[in-house]
Amino acid sequence: MTGHELHRQAEDANRALWDEMAAVHVRAYKEVQLLRQGSEVLDQIELREIGDVRGKRLLHLQCHIGTDTLGWARHGAAVTGVDFSPRAIACAQELRDELGLEATFIQSNVYDLPSLLSEQFDIVYASRGVLCWLRDLDEWARIIDRFLVPGGVFYLMESHPVVHALEEISPGVLSFANPYFHRAEPVRWEAGDCDYANASHILAHPSYEWTWTIGDVVNALLKAGLELEFLNEYDRLYFQLFPSMTSDDGRWYRLPQYQRMLPLIFTLRARKPG
Ligand SMILES: C[S@@+](CC[C@H](N)C(=O)[O-])C[C@H]1O[C@@H](n2cnc3c(N)ncnc32)[C@H](O)[C@@H]1O
Repeated sequence: MTGHELHRQAEDANRALWDEMAAVHVRAYKEVQLLRQGSEVLDQIELREIGDVRGKRLLHLQCHIGTDTLGWARHGAAVTGVDFSPRAIACAQELRDELGLEATFIQSNVYDLPSLLSEQFDIVYASRGVLCWLRDLDEWARIIDRFLVPGGVFYLMESHPVVHALEEISPGVLSFANPYFHRAEPVRWEAGDCDYANASHILAHPSYEWTWTIGDVVNALLKAGLELEFLNEYDRLYFQLFPSMTSDDGRWYRLPQYQRMLPLIFTLRARKPG
């Protein structure tokens, strides 16, 4: 099998996994409840770092069930969400209709989007759990550039790649267990793990994931011609990766014993020259 065929097969397996998780997440995501209550669904960091979106066209890549997309719609953006899982897109459309919000949702692999969509956007946005599903960051960055108007910005909030190299070997003690650096072949995770949003749901599908370093992400965006405006690191994470993590609100998790010692997420903003 060629590398290309292997990558396509990995993406097909990942799509089946995300199809499985979509309906589970409609029931499990706190963001769905927050949207239904009319409460804020987006995080203060991204709201501050992206700024006012009123009247702006926003493309959300890998939007899953559309909770963040609809959050941006509530803030006045004209939003388009894209995801390759047909079930996730169907859930996003149902949620949009239930909430009476305006949003366009497109079912597409990120890599196929240029053949389906011709518009350009003021903001391209992706967040929380997106990079590990991508087989080629250079192509991803060229696609982001393709969809930005001159002067438009790309914003990313993502788990810090260093945390995926670590494992909790005893309560509160982390140790390096996985390579930090990128490898061409994805790592296969077998079915049978718990869903990250609903521990009682045991996943029936395997997944394939790629690791990308901070340098890989930044260099891909620079190579595509974008200008980096900032890259920030924070010591909290949007899911419970390690058992000893604690949370005040059930949305953001901290590692009490590594507070201010270890980055858990990073954010970046890059601009297409105007
Ligand atoms: C963790 S979720 C996105 C995060 C989002 N903030 C959330 O949790 O609601 C990852 C999403 O990426 C999508 N995805 C993975 N690979 C993709 C690809 N190649 N093209 C488009 N969507 C993809 C999956 O279907 C899934 O909905």
